[in-house]
Amino acid sequence: MELNILTVCYLIASVTFILGLKMLSNPASARTGNLVAAAGMTIAIAGTIFLYEEDGQRLHNYAWIFSGIAIGGIVGTFAAKKVKMTAMPEMVSMFNGMGGACAALISLIEFGHIHDMSAEPTGKLFIIFAGLIIGSVSFAGSMVAWGKLNGSVKDHSFNGQHIVNLLLFFASVAVAAWITIALPANAHMMVYAVLALALLYGVFFVLPIGGADMPVVISLLNSFTGVAAAFGGFLYDNKVMLTGGILVGAAGTLLTILMCKAMNRSLANVLIGSFGGGATATAGGAKAQGSVREISLSDASVLMSYAHRVYIVPGYGLAVAQAQHVCHELEKLLESKGVEVKYAIHPVAGRMPGHMNVLLAEADVPYEKLMEMEQANDEFPNTDVVLILGANDVVNPAAKTDPSSPIYGMPILDVELAKNVIVNKRSMKPGYAGIENELFFSKKTSMLFGDAKKVLQDLVSEIKNL
Ligand code: TAP
Repeated sequence: MELNILTVCYLIASVTFILGLKMLSNPASARTGNLVAAAGMTIAIAGTIFLYEEDGQRLHNYAWIFSGIAIGGIVGTFAAKKVKMTAMPEMVSMFNGMGGACAALISLIEFGHIHDMSAEPTGKLFIIFAGLIIGSVSFAGSMVAWGKLNGSVKDHSFNGQHIVNLLLFFASVAVAAWITIALPANAHMMVYAVLALALLYGVFFVLPIGGADMPVVISLLNSFTGVAAAFGGFLYDNKVMLTGGILVGAAGTLLTILMCKAMNRSLANVLIGSFGGGATATAGGAKAQGSVREISLSDASVLMSYAHRVYIVPGYGLAVAQAQHVCHELEKLLESKGVEVKYAIHPVAGRMPGHMNVLLAEADVPYEKLMEMEQANDEFPNTDVVLILGANDVVNPAAKTDPSSPIYGMPILDVELAKNVIVNKRSMKPGYAGIENELFFSKKTSMLFGDAKKVLQDLVSEIKNL
């Protein structure tokens, strides 16, 4: 009877995961979606702790279980509350690494429980090793990605590194296959060789990838963790673990593909290309062309106040400056003067999927003001002013005009179609792709240099005094 209740708990949890994921695809329902899935996970965990039975025995090591939950819960809550928006990819990477470590540990422990290997089905050994290898790669890779994002690990590569990587990977698979087939007497020692090789592979896999490509890599590693957890589900014949793992694996893979598509790059190019890792200002992009035109705060204020329609293009710099609240203030101020204000959201603006949506939602910018790229591009010809706030690559015309540019082919926001373009950034330094932007030298463009938050605060007070 209790086992049936447990099955119902797992069914409810699986449904909430799917519903939660669906709700996450829309900014308006994302928060609720997260809570729905978390509630489902709570039901699954509580059900397992209190209802799971094996050979008529319930779980009994409650002190260990609840200590682990308390420590993890407290650390996780504080970390999530404290984290800055710009450090989100870093935290996701750390959490993902912990998931990979869990999957690997489950495999190690379950392997340790095997006394007579010849009595175990080959399938079970395969599942254990798959979870161990994939989980270890995900853990080690995520830790390196985390280090790169917080600046403690530098990009590193050497000649023939891709060959060494392949050798490490195949060696870990070969040792695992040998243990499964030959059932050697020292198998319980050999399993640590598989672990070490997989961990090494995880480190060397991520080490050469350009630091700026980490969001894509983290999404890929996230899908690895999902697959490793799904193998855990097979191992324990636990349906909810299986469903959860498969959903994470599939969602991570799709996200990786979508990110690559939005940057017009193949996954292989991300993994091998070292894009954005130390590129110089003009490498592969347009060369600096003449001088740029600057605009004063008062001229910018007048231009926007008397406009019919203003489009704001948020980018990574807006997030760095934490200027989303004052940006919303400017938007409301302009609207009070009869100006129509909208936001043009590029799919890979910022450093993580949905970065700009989350950032602006934090400042209570209404969702209906956020226009997707295609829609904004249609409306730019009827726009008086485009105000670019800390965005660079996503408005770089080289993506359309310069086949030698690393971003060639990436869809961009066609801001040049508007009557006037004002660009706010602190200097002429390049963005993520490390390339010059000829938009800044265009006749329609004027630069408004300074930190986004300070500039927006000054614009707000200028406009109030008009
Ligand atoms: P970027 O091209 O990175 O440009 C950001 C600009 O913000 C920089 O040029 C910088 O110039 C400026 N900036 C920095 N701090 C600032 C501050 N405090 N105030 C004002 N400006 C500031 O950003 P983007 O246009 O959003 O493009 C995103 C890039 O990231 C794309 O190349 C995309 O492919 C890549 N990427 C995105 C994702 C996702 S999923 N979003 C994932 C991986 C990679 P200054 O230093 O001169 O101020």
